[in-house]
Amino acid sequence: MSASEEVVIEQGATCELARNPIDEVIAGRLSCREFSGSPVSRSTIEQILRVARFAPSGANIQPWHVYVLAGAAKAEVSAALLHAYETEPNEHVSEYQYYASAFPEPYLGRRQTFGRLFYDSLGIAQSDMAARSRQTAKNFAFFGAPVGLIVTIDRRLAMGSWLDLGMFIQNVMLAAVGRGLQSCPQETFAKYHRILRPALSIPAEQMVACGISMGHPKHQARARLMPRADLEAFASFKGFEN
Ligand SMILES: Cc1cc2nc3c(=O)[nH]c(=O)nc-3n(C[C@H](O)[C@H](O)[C@H](O)COP(=O)(O)O)c2cc1C
Repeated sequence: MSASEEVVIEQGATCELARNPIDEVIAGRLSCREFSGSPVSRSTIEQILRVARFAPSGANIQPWHVYVLAGAAKAEVSAALLHAYETEPNEHVSEYQYYASAFPEPYLGRRQTFGRLFYDSLGIAQSDMAARSRQTAKNFAFFGAPVGLIVTIDRRLAMGSWLDLGMFIQNVMLAAVGRGLQSCPQETFAKYHRILRPALSIPAEQMVACGISMGHPKHQARARLMPRADLEAFASFKGFEN
């Protein structure tokens, strides 16, 4: 890991980087895993999805579909997924491979930093597999968020459409920040497509890509936990004067 990658950008510093309201929204989004109990109305979610649909997509095909869950519908899905997680630990796998089987550097180092920061922040020793499992289980309750989204993509499309989907998902999360909400994207849900499909009447051609928890954060001014590599680590400039 290079020295620049060790820089941990705290929330305050991140905001200092923000030069305009859009920057503030981008820098203000973080993965929230503790939500307050306050509800989010259907009309707010509709607004978020209506603006998020302006994400670009190749040939404007708009390959996304979203299942929006709240109340009893969310609770039923959460209970079924938690039950599967606890009773069938090795039987659920995603229909797509999210992570590489082996991480080359610098990704390996970043993933290790993630694990250390994440579990340290929760007071969980990385060797404490039971506590880690309890934390993972919180995914299925959408971390206590009042709204859970399940995002799917048509499996007949190609890899390029996943770029489109990612842009849409980011738009959803940014539109949430613009309304004082936070979110957490969750690939964990993709593993449980066999339960989600019948529960949400997901057609066979749709593949579960991820879930998104969404609601008011429990701690409004929580500092950003996860660092980012600095510009020099990922950008190459040519042809500029100074
Ligand atoms: C597609 C995607 C899937 C993710 N899946 C999970 C997940 O299943 N559970 C979880 O707690 N966080 C998940 N995350 C959140 C990442 O851990 C988080 O984005 C990363 O550590 C950077 O932190 P930040 O979002 O707070 O900036 C996911 C993020 C993305 C983009």
